[in-house]
Amino acid sequence: MLLKNKVAVIYGAGGSIGGAVARAFARDGATLFLTGHVRAPVEAIAKDIVSAGGSAEAAEVDALVERSIDGHLQSVMDKAGRVDISFNSVGIPDAEILGVPLLDLGLEQFSQPLSTYAASYFLTARLAARRMVANKSGVIMTVTALHSRTGIPLVGGYGPAMAAKEALTRDLSAELAPHGVRVVGLRPQAMPESDTIKQAFEPRAKASGMTWEQWQTLLASRTHPRRLMTLEEMANVAAFIASDRATGMTGTTVNLTMGSLDD
Ligand SMILES: NC(=O)c1ccc[n+]([C@@H]2O[C@H](COP(=O)([O-])OP(=O)(O)OC[C@H]3O[C@@H](n4cnc5c(N)ncnc54)[C@H](OP(=O)(O)O)[C@@H]3O)[C@@H](O)[C@H]2O)c1
Repeated sequence: MLLKNKVAVIYGAGGSIGGAVARAFARDGATLFLTGHVRAPVEAIAKDIVSAGGSAEAAEVDALVERSIDGHLQSVMDKAGRVDISFNSVGIPDAEILGVPLLDLGLEQFSQPLSTYAASYFLTARLAARRMVANKSGVIMTVTALHSRTGIPLVGGYGPAMAAKEALTRDLSAELAPHGVRVVGLRPQAMPESDTIKQAFEPRAKASGMTWEQWQTLLASRTHPRRLMTLEEMANVAAFIASDRATGMTGTTVNLTMGSLDD
C-alpha cells in the first residue's frame, strides 16, 4: 500500500494511461479524484475501482480550462482536505497532428500539440502546486514520449510539445522542490494495448511502408528485452514515483523506453 492516505487527482483518467494509473494508484490505497472532459469513460473506471474496494469519484473537468480545473481542485480540498498527487495524462487525437511533412505543415497544426499538451500540463501543475505548497508536500506528474529527445519524421509539433513538457518538469521542480513539492515525468515507449499507438501509426502507415504488426515488431526490436511495455508495468512505476519511497526523485523524466533511448 504505497499510497495509503494519499489523495490523487488524475486528468485524462478515461484514457489508456490515465485509467491504468488510476487502477494502480487504487491498488496501492490512494483516494482518487478522476477527471476527464467527457464524464462517461471516467465514471466507468471509478465504478470498477469502487467495486474492487477502492476509493474513487469521477468528475467532468476540461484540463485546458483554468476555471474548470480550479473549481474541481477546490472541491477536492473541501472533501479531502488536501491534494498529494496531480497526474496529467491528457492526450489529443494523433490523427489531427501527425502524418504531415514539416515542409507542408501549417502553423496552426504545428502549434496544436503545444497549445494543448504543454498548456494543460502547465495549468494542472500550477493549480495543484498552489495547494501543495501551502501544505509543504506533494508530487506533480505527467507523461511524455521519446519524441522529446530524438528526431522522428512526420510527427509535426508533437516532439516539440513533449520536449516542452519535460523542460517544464525541470523548471517546476526548481521552483517547487524547495517548498516540499516534487515534479517527475514518465517517458514510456509505445504500449500497444492502448488504442493511441495504433492511431498514431495510421497517419504514418503509408510513408513507413509497414503494416501495424511490422511496426510493433520494429519498435520492440529497439528495446533491450525485445518487447514493448504493458500499461500495468508503466502504472506500477507511476505508483512508486508518486509514493514517499521516491522522495529522492524530482526535476526529471523517468526513461521508461527499456533501452530504446539512451540517457
Ligand atoms: N499510449 C502510449 O503507448 C503512449 C506512450 C508514450 C506516450 N504517450 C502519451 O501519453 C499521453 C496519454 O496517452 P493515452 O494513450 O492515455 O491517450 P488516450 O487514451 O487518448 O487518453 C487521453 C485522455 O485525455 C482526454 N482528454 C483530451 N482532451 C482533454 C481535456 N481538454 N481535458 C480533459 N481530458 C482530456 C481524452 O478524452 P477523449 O478521448 O474523450 O478526448 C482521453 O481520455 C499522450 O500524451 C500520449 O501521447 C502514450
